[in-house]
Amino acid sequence: MKLNPIFTNSPWIQLESLLQKKLYSNYFIVVDENTEIHCLGIVIQHIKDYNSKLIKIPQGESNKSIETCNLLWNELIEKGVDRKSVIFALGGGVLCDLVGFCSATMLRGIDFFYIPTTLMAMVDASIGGKCGVNFLHFKNQIGVFTLPIAIVIDPIFLKTLSQRHLKNGIVEMLKHTLLKETNLDAQILNRSLHCNLDQIIESIDFKKSIVEKDFKETKLRKILNFGHTIGHAIETYSLKDGRDYLHGECVAVGMICELYISAALYNWDKAILNEICDFLRPFTNQFKISEFDFATIIEYLKIDKKTQFGTPSFSLLEQMGKPVTEIKVSEALIVKSLEFYSN
Ligand SMILES: NC(=O)c1ccc[n+]([C@@H]2O[C@H](COP(=O)([O-])OP(=O)(O)OC[C@H]3O[C@@H](n4cnc5c(N)ncnc54)[C@H](O)[C@@H]3O)[C@@H](O)[C@H]2O)c1
Repeated sequence: MKLNPIFTNSPWIQLESLLQKKLYSNYFIVVDENTEIHCLGIVIQHIKDYNSKLIKIPQGESNKSIETCNLLWNELIEKGVDRKSVIFALGGGVLCDLVGFCSATMLRGIDFFYIPTTLMAMVDASIGGKCGVNFLHFKNQIGVFTLPIAIVIDPIFLKTLSQRHLKNGIVEMLKHTLLKETNLDAQILNRSLHCNLDQIIESIDFKKSIVEKDFKETKLRKILNFGHTIGHAIETYSLKDGRDYLHGECVAVGMICELYISAALYNWDKAILNEICDFLRPFTNQFKISEFDFATIIEYLKIDKKTQFGTPSFSLLEQMGKPVTEIKVSEALIVKSLEFYSN
C-alpha cells in the first residue's frame, strides 16, 4: 500500500498546488498554545488566501484524551464543519495523533493534513497512519489507522523547539538507525544527532518503506515496535505516577532494556551492548525506576496492545540491523533488563 505524499522539498509550494485542486468548503487549523505562538505565523504566510478557522486545544500528553476529542468535535460542529471541510494539524505527535483520530471519525471521515512541528512528529508520529488517544492512563488505547491527504515537512519549526524535545525525537531516529544499520559504529550513531533535512528524510524514508509493505502491522511493521513494548509500559507507569516524562525518553529506557534482552537471547558481545546503551542513556532524562515497581511495570506490559493471550510480544534485534518480531520473553529476563537499566 502506498502512503500519501510527504512534501519535503519546497513543501509549501506543493501544498498550495494540491489545495488549488481540492476546493474545500472550510479550512480549519488546529493548534495548541505553543504552536499558536511559534508555528501558526509560518503557516498563515503560506496559506493566507484560504479563510482558515482556528481551533486551539491544550498541549501535552495528558490532553491526548477523549475529553480533548470532545472539545475538538464540539468546536468543529460549532464552526460549521461539513464533509468537504479540511483540517490542518499543526503540532507535535500529541496533536497529530488526536487530530488524525478526530478527523477520521468526524462525519465518518473528513480530509486532514499533518504539519508536524516537532522532530518526533516529523520522523515518526505523522508517518504511517496510526492515530488515537490514551484511555484510562493506557497509551493509544483508542484509535484507528487512517492517512492524511499529505504531510508537510518543514524543519524551520524545529528552531523554536527545546533541546529536550529535540532529543526526544532523536530517540526515534536512533531506533531507525539500529533497525537498519548492520555495521553500526559511533560515527553512524552520531549522524542521527544531526536533525537536518537530510537526516529527517532518511528516517522518514525508512519508516515509510516498512509501513508501505505492511500497513496494518501484521508482521514486518512490528519491527518498528523495538523499544516500545517496555517503553509503553514505562510511559503508562510515568503517566499514572503523574511524572512528566516524554515518549522518546520512555522509549530510550525501553530500548536499553530490549537491547539487554536481545543481547541475552542472541549472545551478543557485551562490549557492543554497553557501547550502544551508554550512547542511549543521556536520552532517558535519568528516568528512575524503583525495584519495588518492577512488578507494576510487568503488569502494564500485559495490557499493552502488542500483548496477545496475556503474553507480551517483543520486537528485538538478533544483531544490529537484523530485527526479529513476535518474541516471547520470560518475566525473569524482563526483570533482569529493568535491573540492568536501573544499575
Ligand atoms: N502515531 C504514531 O505512529 C506515533 C509515533 C510516535 C509518537 N507518537 C506519539 O507522539 C506523542 C509525542 O509527540 P511529541 O514528542 O511531538 O510531543 P508533543 O506533541 O507533546 O509536543 C511537545 C511539546 O512541544 C510543543 N511544540 C510543538 N511544536 C513546537 C515548536 N515548533 N516550537 C515550540 N514548541 C513546540 C508542544 O506544544 C508540546 O508542548 C506521543 O503521544 C506519542 O505516543 C505517535
